[in-house]
Amino acid sequence: MEKTFSIIKPNSVLDNNMGNIIARFEKEGLRIAAAKLTTLSKEKAEGFYIEHKERPFFGELVSFMTSAPVLLLCLEGENAVDKNREIMGATNPADAAEGTIRKLYAKSVGENSVHGSDSQAAAEREINYFFEASEVMERWN
Ligand code: GTP
Ligand code: MG
Repeated sequence: MEKTFSIIKPNSVLDNNMGNIIARFEKEGLRIAAAKLTTLSKEKAEGFYIEHKERPFFGELVSFMTSAPVLLLCLEGENAVDKNREIMGATNPADAAEGTIRKLYAKSVGENSVHGSDSQAAAEREINYFFEASEVMERWN
């Protein structure tokens, strides 16, 4: 079964929308294979977003992502990467389609509620960056 990686970002945790977002994943057929509620260190957040290091918003991004707890999730399901991207909606909530997580819960392009892997290769890298293999549930069917 395909896996993807998601982060429920600080604004969603602080707004008590974690449960709503998890319910949406499950409703759409994405099973939670691993989960960890944690506050990211500056080093861990910078490493995760290393591809954006030269972007003007990098400092703001890292500061937001370390400002409060996040929920790290490994999701699995059919076509999990693309399905998750579709459920999330566009990066900027102003451009996100009706009914998407970002349309419903995001505050701005920075505080945009969720992260989702953008390819299967990224998903594998991101899952391995945050989880040990033994922490990820193995399916039995
Ligand atoms: P992720 O799933 O979080 O990777 O979002 P994405 O793939 O839709 O967007 P992208 O990878 O281009 O950017 C990564 C993250 O950087 C976004 O989710 C935003 O949180 C943040 N970001 C992007 N543009 C801006 C910006 O102009 N200002 C701020 N503050 N953050 C931004
Ligand atoms: Mg991205």
